Amino acid sequence: MPMLKIFVGTVYGGALDVAEQVKPLFEEAGYQVEIHDQPTLEDLTDSPTDLALFCVSTTGTGDYPGNFVPFARAIDERSPSLVDLRYGVIALGDSSYGETFCGGGRSVDELLAGQGAQRLGERLEVDAMETPMADDEAIPWVEQWIDVERLKVA
Ligand SMILES: Cc1cc2nc3c(=O)[nH]c(=O)nc-3n(C[C@H](O)[C@H](O)[C@H](O)COP(=O)(O)O)c2cc1C
Repeated sequence: MPMLKIFVGTVYGGALDVAEQVKPLFEEAGYQVEIHDQPTLEDLTDSPTDLALFCVSTTGTGDYPGNFVPFARAIDERSPSLVDLRYGVIALGDSSYGETFCGGGRSVDELLAGQGAQRLGERLEVDAMETPMADDEAIPWVEQWIDVERLKVA
């Protein structure tokens, strides 16, 4: 069974809730699913990752949540080749923060692309001003992502 890993960056738990809510959708599509809420680079690189989903919110002024900082720093400093990685991004933010809207999700997207990883589809950006419960947008987005990108294996 292929492995899908969900990497979570969260301050208040919203992005982790998204990860837990979408997990069954991937299981139904034929994946074994792991959620990493204290992610490390080894979680990504030391065992096969057939597909990855990054659920990352934003704190400070466009910054990564604290639990995600070691993962991002390790990619930045160790510059691993991620050419075999296919991934999606669900970014959580709040448009009242203006230019730093969804900065955490945007930054990890750029970081992964810089290492050669391939994003499948567009990034989802959930605005807490419009959608207080991010799951409401994330669940249909994942259903569509699996369908449009032909990710179903079962
Ligand atoms: C102190 C603080 C700073 C924030 N900074 C930003 C920001 O710069 N950009 C943004 O889009 N959202 C920002 N947010 C909004 C959060 O990213 C948003 O509420 C998100 O849904 C929280 O997800 P979480 O529960 O997974 O942490 C900030 C929220 C707080 C409390």
